Amino acid sequence: MTILVTGGAGYIGSHTCVELLSAGFEVIILDNFVNSHPEVISRIEKITGKGLAVINGDVRDQALVEECLKKYSCTAVMHFAGLKAVGDSVKNPLAYYDNNFVGTHRLLLAMQNCGVEKIVFSSSATVYGEPQYLPITEDHPLTATNPYGRSKLFIEEMLRDFHHANPSWKIALLRYFNPAGAHESGLIGEDPMGLPNNLMPYIAQVATGRREYLSIWGNDYATHDGTGVRDYIHVVDLALGHLKALQQLNSSKSLCLNLGAGIGYSVLDIVHTFEKTSGKKIPYQIDKRRFGDIAVCYADPTLARESLDWVARRDLVAICKDHWRWQKQNPEGYA
Ligand code: NAD
Ligand code: UD1
Repeated sequence: MTILVTGGAGYIGSHTCVELLSAGFEVIILDNFVNSHPEVISRIEKITGKGLAVINGDVRDQALVEECLKKYSCTAVMHFAGLKAVGDSVKNPLAYYDNNFVGTHRLLLAMQNCGVEKIVFSSSATVYGEPQYLPITEDHPLTATNPYGRSKLFIEEMLRDFHHANPSWKIALLRYFNPAGAHESGLIGEDPMGLPNNLMPYIAQVATGRREYLSIWGNDYATHDGTGVRDYIHVVDLALGHLKALQQLNSSKSLCLNLGAGIGYSVLDIVHTFEKTSGKKIPYQIDKRRFGDIAVCYADPTLARESLDWVARRDLVAICKDHWRWQKQNPEGYA
């Protein structure tokens, strides 16, 4: 079976390509490299010992997507392509609605025209907004607080409407919590362009000396040490969740699932674990809260366990160890 992976050169997409290839799928990547580096392709090939086709193009180019789906006889799509920086989305909302929402709309049209009826979509815990209860289950009310989040929520709504009208389609909405870590080979990992927005890549760059210190955004939250609590999930576990979701779509029904570990760790928990596993000191200073941040967020991953027989197996130590190995071996990322 051949899978079209949009955004397959990115952080989560590249790790998922490794698992797809290792499980015997053929993989076609469609990526415009707006937030990734072509070097990742040879790394994926090195890890798996397998080749894959890469199309340098945009998911909004419907004709190109149709050409790929037909040329390679794709049977399903994993759709990672999108922009993901919350602050940037507030400054450039149209770019996010265009890239994320319009991109998914065109992709669906292309799939429909080619008779490809299976899609796994990268959603996010951001669609839950401020948690009304914890841990968060999939039936938690949906809302969004910024254009990035709204683009994900609108895509989910479009997919639900589309599925209602086309029940033969198999659609998986996977709501990721906080992806972190890297492949244990140290060959692929997260390579943010410019200043990292997320915690783990920022800490890793402090550890290599590329950044002087970490700013901790608030220590006055109602959490065990005052810093924000999140559900960090190893990117390889996340990739394996995609594989299981795809296999499930092949055999039965559509899915909407949380992919998280179900455990909340604070910013200071992460700093201390990273220090222990890397042997590096992470200097930090306490700053004011980031606008739009919530205190605590973690998943109830029961539904994913029950429907996919999937759980996050790699713990926080593995996440930090693997993230550090990648950063140490590639201090400047892929460049
Ligand atoms: P990433 O930026 O590393 O990967 C996205 C990839 O898509 C990049 O390679 C980029 O070049 C490509 N891309 C972007 N727009 C494109 C377009 N129009 N056409 C073709 N390619 C395009 O991001 P990631 O962390 O791997 O995230 C993958 C998906 O998961 C995104 O949709 C993101 O919103 C979602 N997600 C990520 C997180 C996270 O914390 N990383 C959390 C929840 C959801
Ligand atoms: C952020 C996004 C969210 C997105 C998620 C995954 C915002 C407001 N939210 O969430 O929409 O789905 O990433 O991509 O941007 N922190 C620091 N210093 C830093 C970086 C982070 O203290 O330099 C803290 C944050 O305040 C938070 C925790 O670390 O408490 C995790 O932050 P981050 O990695 O950005 O993830 P989220 O806040 O969950």
